[in-house]
Parts: sequence; structure tokens; C-alpha cells
Amino acid sequence: MRVGIFDSGIGGVSVLKSLLQAKLFEEIIYYGDTARVPYGTKDRETIITYSLEALDFFSPYKIDLLIIACNTVSAYALEILREKAPYPVIGVIEAGVLAVQNKLPNKEDSILILATEATTNSQVYPNALSALGYKNIQSIATTLFVPLVEEGIYEGEILQSTFKHYFHSISTPPKGIILGCTHYPFISKAISEYFKEESLLIHSGEAIVEQLKSTLALKECDMQTKVSFYSSQSNLSLQKQALSLLSRTF
Ligand code: DGL
Repeated sequence: MRVGIFDSGIGGVSVLKSLLQAKLFEEIIYYGDTARVPYGTKDRETIITYSLEALDFFSPYKIDLLIIACNTVSAYALEILREKAPYPVIGVIEAGVLAVQNKLPNKEDSILILATEATTNSQVYPNALSALGYKNIQSIATTLFVPLVEEGIYEGEILQSTFKHYFHSISTPPKGIILGCTHYPFISKAISEYFKEESLLIHSGEAIVEQLKSTLALKECDMQTKVSFYSSQSNLSLQKQALSLLSRTF
């Protein structure tokens, strides 16, 4: 199976990493719109326009499935991408919500959603969780985490100050934390430690692997997945950054 991964930039490598570990596909084509990242601070129309342009990128590659690694795109453009694409399109939000349902079945559990400003404003995560009966949901737009991760800041003072800035009003560790942005798995250790390792972290990449296994009945294959990296700027620079991020553990 040849699969496309689309992200606004480099962060989708967190999802790619989970897919590579799961060995579900023979070939993956990663496309990051690095020339126009971030999407998380843009408006609906812009996010939709850019996302539809990504379909044009993938058309010569004859992919069998498109995975939207970007939460912001999944929040605003999933339906329209599904209408326009000649192949199935899956997003990370449905997978994340499914993971909450499976791992935290108690509807009283407190769930904290961390995401970009656009994803937070869309209310897609809280609406989906409320519809399932979850009552104790809080969302925070943790916008600064994206540039910090892009700067290679995964721990330390600046990150701790940013945590205090966003989390100062949270007195008890939430039961579950949705890492609702591609970049956040790279600081998941620090987030977990901040909440005294008492919260279950829901990571889009792992969630999508579970969803693919259960809905498409995909199984681990023996061969090494072939990955090609493309971007709306320099392919080589994205590839270098991607390989460095792939070597990070989280
Ligand atoms: N990929 C985006 C997301 O998961 C984060 C970076 C951006 O704002 O474009 O929402």
C-alpha cells in the first residue's frame, strides 16, 4: 500500500514515526507545507485552501490512502478533502477521540485538550467528546509549544515557564491529556513530568495506528517501509529535519 501523509510542516513526523514503528505500509510519501507553516494561527478559509492544494501535490503519486497528520487540517478540512480525493482520507482527531474512548471509558474522567489556536477554536475535540458523554473537558490553545519544538527546546527552563503560563490554573493532574498537535509528542515527557506522571497522554500517531489496525484490519509487514520526503520549500532540508526528529524518542 502506498500512503500519503500530509502535514502543515515538519511536525507530522511524530505521526510518521508511529506508522514506521507499526510497519503497516510498504511506501509512505510525506508532504509538509513548510513554506506556509504554521496553519494553527490561520483562518478556516486559508486552512481549507492550503489543504486542497495538498491534494494536487499527491495526484501524480497514485496513493491508496491519505493520512492527515495535522490536527488543524483534520479540524477544518477533513470533510472537504474526503469529498474531493479519489482515495480514502483519514484524520488524527477521530483517532484521538477513539483512543480516549478506549483508554478512558469513565465519562467522569477529566480530559485536557492541548492544541493550536485554530484547532481549539474549532471545538472539534470537545464536541466529539461531549457527544460521547464526557463531562469534564478543558481545552487550552498552547500555541507557543509549536515554535519551542521547532527550536529544538524539548525540556528546561523556557519550557517550564511556558507550562506555568498555560497550566497555572490546573490544580489536579487531568486523567487524560490529548496531545492535539503534531509537535506535542516531542515534549510529551516534559508534559507528563509536569503533571507528576499521573495523566494518560493520548498521542495522534499511536491513536491512528490503532484505528488503522482496527478499521482496515492492517497487519505488520516484514519489509522496511520506503519513505520519501517532499515539501513546499526545500525537500532536502525537510528530509534532514525529519531524520533528526525520527531519531528522538518519545
Ligand atoms: N501541524 C499542526 C497541528 O497539528 C501544528 C503546526 C501548525 O500550526 O501548522 O495542528
